Amino acid sequence: MIKKNDELLLDITSYTSEGYGVGKHNCIAVFVPFALEGEQVLVHIIKVARSYAIGKIVKILKRSDARIEPSCKFYQKCGGCDLQHVSYDQSLKIKQQIVKDAFAKLGGLKVEVEEVCESQEFMYRNKIAVPLCTDDNAQVSMAMYRKSSHNAVVIDECLLAHKEITEICKQVVELLSKYFEEKEVFKHLVVRKLKNGALITIVSSKALDARLLKKLFAALSSKFESLNLGLYTCKKLMDNNVILEGNIKHVAGIKNIEIDVLGINVEIAPLSFFQVNFEVMQKLYQKVLEQASGYREVIDAYSGAGLLSALLAKTAKHVYGIEIVKEAVENANNLKLKNNIKNLTNICKDAKDALPKLINEHKDALLVLDPPRKGVDKSVIEAIKNSKPVKIIYISCNPATLARDAKLLSECYDISYVKPFDMFSKTSSVETLCVFTLKL
Ligand SMILES: C[S@@+](CC[C@H](N)C(=O)[O-])C[C@H]1O[C@@H](n2cnc3c(N)ncnc32)[C@H](O)[C@@H]1O
Repeated sequence: MIKKNDELLLDITSYTSEGYGVGKHNCIAVFVPFALEGEQVLVHIIKVARSYAIGKIVKILKRSDARIEPSCKFYQKCGGCDLQHVSYDQSLKIKQQIVKDAFAKLGGLKVEVEEVCESQEFMYRNKIAVPLCTDDNAQVSMAMYRKSSHNAVVIDECLLAHKEITEICKQVVELLSKYFEEKEVFKHLVVRKLKNGALITIVSSKALDARLLKKLFAALSSKFESLNLGLYTCKKLMDNNVILEGNIKHVAGIKNIEIDVLGINVEIAPLSFFQVNFEVMQKLYQKVLEQASGYREVIDAYSGAGLLSALLAKTAKHVYGIEIVKEAVENANNLKLKNNIKNLTNICKDAKDALPKLINEHKDALLVLDPPRKGVDKSVIEAIKNSKPVKIIYISCNPATLARDAKLLSECYDISYVKPFDMFSKTSSVETLCVFTLKL
């Protein structure tokens, strides 16, 4: 029996899906954040559940060669990163193993997993959303949440974000402190920067004084002369975990960032879905295009603002995009017009309603699935198994739901290729491309 507050000596032999080290005590798994495989650690048990326990490192008795000094001064306090204590090469091996384990443990599938496609280690994020808090001196500060909590840790930089994003955040909080009387209304600051365009959204619980916002924008613009800035406000209506929603208003400057992605001209607004790591996103989409080559028709389910559909339309005869969010479909239609794409149909429907008919009518079409974290609806899987498209390219940001869906598809499909992409370097999250081919 393991009890809370016990101190145990553990040999770390594997990892959880969150990159925690795993050791065993009397056959019970103990998960140890920041512990590495091959290490021997003394842990203090902080939680005991039915089938596992969680321990905090007290002392490392045997150290892994892969252990390194974290670069960020907020590491282990801020919940943003969980793999800064390990060499980059080793972090990629851990992610490869996380994907492999998900297929084995959740899918019952033994698959070959390719090496993880590398990223720039730091300063790769083109967007961050930081909670704002107010200190005793009525100064607004940017923060991050501790892992699995809403407890804010004040920070003054995030090493994952582009350098200018951190500089913009610092300036904005300084100006909010200087110009606004009521500070508690500020909830979040969202900054997205690509090439020389940056969109800043201030999220608050109350509408903000337009005159002061204009003043803030003027001060920011003179500070960042080489950037094209755009300012938005978002008045939060509901008390939930979604940061940007409700009443989003453009205040000043540019409304969208225009950018070229592999030859497609894209306009990105504060609410648009766009991968946070531009370089790795391009490598991922290039791999999708490679795998899609030779297919005349493509069905792109969960198509978002239509970037991938537009790329696929460069070589296919016709592409059908399916997306549930009306605004995203409007963006996808604008993207189509702007890029003069004629062979693309954007359908605004739930994939579970649109996909069964579409795959049945286009039996030879390639199917691309790029669902949100929760994966693909069970009825979509059933429709796929009935219509049996010859090939499926599944892009996933959650190895657990990918493995669950792969298990269901494995009755009719072989997994022919699995390649993880380090879209979120220094964190345990991983993006995966998985190719399914119909069994003979
Ligand atoms: C990971 S994003 C896809 C991004 C897109 N492939 C691109 O290139 O920008 C997932 C998308 O699935 C959409 N979505 C979520 N549930 C859906 C459903 N049931 N049916 C159709 N689309 C859905 C979301 O609105 C979101 O745009």
